[in-house]
Amino acid sequence: MSRSAHPAGPRHADVLPEGHYTAPADDLNALDPKVWAHTVGRDADGVVTVGGIAVTQLAEEYGTPAYILDEADFRDRARAWRTAFGTDADVFYAGKAFLSRAVVRWLDEEGLNLDVCSGGELATALSAGMPAERIAFHGNNKSPEEIERAVRAGVGRIVLDSFQEIVRVAHTAESLGKRQRVQIRVTVGVEAHTHEFIATAHEDQKFGIPLADGQAAEAVRRALQLDGLDVIGIHSHIGSQIFDMSGFEVAAHRVVGLLKDVRDEHGVELAEIDLGGGLGIAYTSDDDPREPHEIAKALSEIVTRECEGARLRTPRISVEPGRAIVGPTAFTLYEVGTVKPLEGLRTYVSVDGGMSDNIRTALYDAEYSVALASRTSDAEPMLVRVVGKHCESGDIVVKDAFLPGDLAPGDLIAVPATGAYCRSMASNYNHAMRPPVVAVRDGAARVIVRRETEEDLLRLDVG
Ligand code: LLP
Repeated sequence: MSRSAHPAGPRHADVLPEGHYTAPADDLNALDPKVWAHTVGRDADGVVTVGGIAVTQLAEEYGTPAYILDEADFRDRARAWRTAFGTDADVFYAGKAFLSRAVVRWLDEEGLNLDVCSGGELATALSAGMPAERIAFHGNNKSPEEIERAVRAGVGRIVLDSFQEIVRVAHTAESLGKRQRVQIRVTVGVEAHTHEFIATAHEDQKFGIPLADGQAAEAVRRALQLDGLDVIGIHSHIGSQIFDMSGFEVAAHRVVGLLKDVRDEHGVELAEIDLGGGLGIAYTSDDDPREPHEIAKALSEIVTRECEGARLRTPRISVEPGRAIVGPTAFTLYEVGTVKPLEGLRTYVSVDGGMSDNIRTALYDAEYSVALASRTSDAEPMLVRVVGKHCESGDIVVKDAFLPGDLAPGDLIAVPATGAYCRSMASNYNHAMRPPVVAVRDGAARVIVRRETEEDLLRLDVG
């Protein structure tokens, strides 16, 4: 790796442009455990290690960019959620955050269930041996083929998202001589404090059936009449990257209100309530997420209190964390290609990936942090924008951060907390080849999703 000198970039001591950045950390070499996977550290040479392996070695063996996933951390977090919710509740890992067959096996081994939202995710889950009864099937427009496949496989629940779907699933189940366990997804009218595109409980959006105007009650009324359906409960997902429990409080209050109405009208006490996922993680040191045991305690207290007030038996609770389990367990490893100081502005650091492996910055204005990973440095901090190699000026990975002023082409940098919604939302834009996911554990690394090749690209292009 070259360590060529380059013109000095703007330092924090100089005038800084407008931006969302906070002051540089006192020690740029420090790795805040809040944003890095559990086994991440630095070795005696200052190289970042994970699971006991140096990133320089990982880069040499697997190339860059690469998602490096700490398997022990994934299992720890999955287990922490499982343990926190105990045997009276269910934890469904949301596969949309990141799904692969290795992940499915880890979840199975750690006793978690799985939420899938497409035929592809369902196929991945089944092919890795996840028992169908531990799978929940989601989606606002499941195709007839997807519904049939899920019912045939015997998934533990299908989450119904519209009046049409109530009829479709009932019809499919009946024609297969089955009774399908279902939940009805409702929107409770809560505005979760998050980005508009990832907030899902306000009513003006595509998911769920509004509680307002009695629509959800009508959905339950219809579903209860259909022989093909076994209505086991109500589902609510209020959004993503949420830190504040008050949205869940309002959601639980309103969902329990519906359970009460259902009991009063039909004499049926629905047995389950699913409060969805959406729990936030730390992308930067400014974020303060809650621990799973605090979340479990808060949710169970809220639901118990609401049910006592409504004189209902407390239903079985389930949750669907995706990001909170996988997000912090992986980082993206990039090699620096160019370092371009713009005097009075900032220094643009181009890496060998970009919006094709992390679209979240461009799409949601997401904030990330970044660290020099292949060495330490005592150089002055410089304000950087980490950008990719795509033909688009919005191709930004880390909008504003500080890296050492002697950063040079050939250095490896790592962006933490990219385990969720990065590989799963990756694209082939500009015919980029999607990076591999390398799982590291106890000094051993293995590829769990391999890097795409030009051959892969050309195989789809049938001429
Ligand atoms: N359950 C349901 C019904 C969901 O729709 C979602 C996320 C989850 C659970 C998991 O949410 P999590 O715990 O991972 O926040 N692409 C966006 C996030 C979209 C989330 C969609 N649904 C992002 O990158 O932030």
